[in-house]
Amino acid sequence: MTNKPALVWDIEIRIFHWLLLAFVVGAWMTVEMGPPSLLGLHEVLGFGIGAMLIFRLFWGLFGSWHQRFASFVRGPVSVLSHLKSLLTGKPQRFIGHNPAGGVMIVALLLVLLGVVASGIATMGGFDKAGPLAPYLTFAQGRQAKEIHELLVNILLVLAGLHVAGVIVESVFLKENLIRSMIHGRKEAHPDFIAPPGPPPVARPGLAAVLASLVVASLGSAMFYSSLKPALGVPMLGHNPQYVKECGACHTPHHPSLLPASSWKLVMAGLSDHFGDDASLTEGNRQEIETWLVKATELGWDTKAGQRIPATLKPADPMRITASTFWERRHRKIPEPVFKSKLVGGKANCQACHVDAVRGGFSPLGIAIPEEIK
Ligand code: HEC
Ligand code: HEC
Repeated sequence: MTNKPALVWDIEIRIFHWLLLAFVVGAWMTVEMGPPSLLGLHEVLGFGIGAMLIFRLFWGLFGSWHQRFASFVRGPVSVLSHLKSLLTGKPQRFIGHNPAGGVMIVALLLVLLGVVASGIATMGGFDKAGPLAPYLTFAQGRQAKEIHELLVNILLVLAGLHVAGVIVESVFLKENLIRSMIHGRKEAHPDFIAPPGPPPVARPGLAAVLASLVVASLGSAMFYSSLKPALGVPMLGHNPQYVKECGACHTPHHPSLLPASSWKLVMAGLSDHFGDDASLTEGNRQEIETWLVKATELGWDTKAGQRIPATLKPADPMRITASTFWERRHRKIPEPVFKSKLVGGKANCQACHVDAVRGGFSPLGIAIPEEIK
């Protein structure tokens, strides 16, 4: 009886396996625990996962035998007979993935691919950023976000089952499968089911070249696409009169933040403007009102432009900060922060949002100013 450990998991797959785990856990933590500005890191990790999946596809075609799809993708009959063999206490031994494990690998890879794709779609429609921003509406981005979250939940369930499967097999076969994914070796038992015929040799050079070509071309296509203007975000000319008159006491609010009817109300009541006198000459007043109304008519498909006007309180139609969406997004910020000298009130959006004047409100551009002591 020969018990010489055989190298089963090559170095490429072991690096892939643990790096993928680290990236997935990191991506999950950045959105579940981090501030919104960590969304940028989340996106970088997501693109990294996408690149790793492309490599895994080629390694499944040209890698060493136990990593090839041809070696472990089996039909339902083999899967069931393997699961049955576990129940009878005489488990079939496989040197690579067993048939049930093979199903899990394919499911994990496909779901992860869906997570990455729906993530890029969310980024495009919901946050108006990245390669799909020129093509997706806000509504489509919201749907993509729901799909993204659903797929992540499915991924968590699959990952749980995968770990459970590894533990069950380790106990039944009395060998530590987790450790073998670190050193790559498995004990060779005589009852291992051998691969059919002589195993083909790995082609690491070929896999690396093909994966790099696909990643580089896809990556540059995405880069150039993300430079295009986002769908539903018109280029709005700067209005010096508006900035001068309406930017004197607070951020000159972007026209997309209120509907035309609210802007008309604001402009009709400037002599008693939230307790202040913000009166203008009639000529100025009319010019600004016309500009605001025309600017809203351009149509704004941004998150702020869609969600704030849609959730205004009917009793408070002029207050951006009274909209349900605004209140929900800012409820974690303590009142004294808004009252501080550095912020100067809730209406001073640009104190915390670098792109407030453009109406962007990107989650990547949020920072609460800190006092220098
Ligand atoms: C003299 C100072 C002053 C000027 C000038 C001024 N505002 Fe205001 N504005 C205020 C104050 C004060 C508030 C209330 C802020 C608060 O309650 O935090 C306010 C609030 C607002 C709000 C509601 C923001 C919110 O909290 O949701 C809008 C919209 C607004 N102003 C538009 C304008 C426009 C348009 C102009 C130019 C025509 C203008 N303001 C000029 C002082 C001013
Ligand atoms: C004191 C700082 C501060 C001020 C002032 C402020 N915000 Fe924010 N805003 C934040 C923070 C922090 C978040 C992120 C909250 C979170 O998700 O944890 C946020 C989130 C948002 C978002 C959601 C961004 C996203 O994609 O999730 C929008 C839109 C927004 N703010 C609009 C506004 C507008 C409009 C104003 C002015 C009327 C304003 N904010 C004033 C700090 C501020």
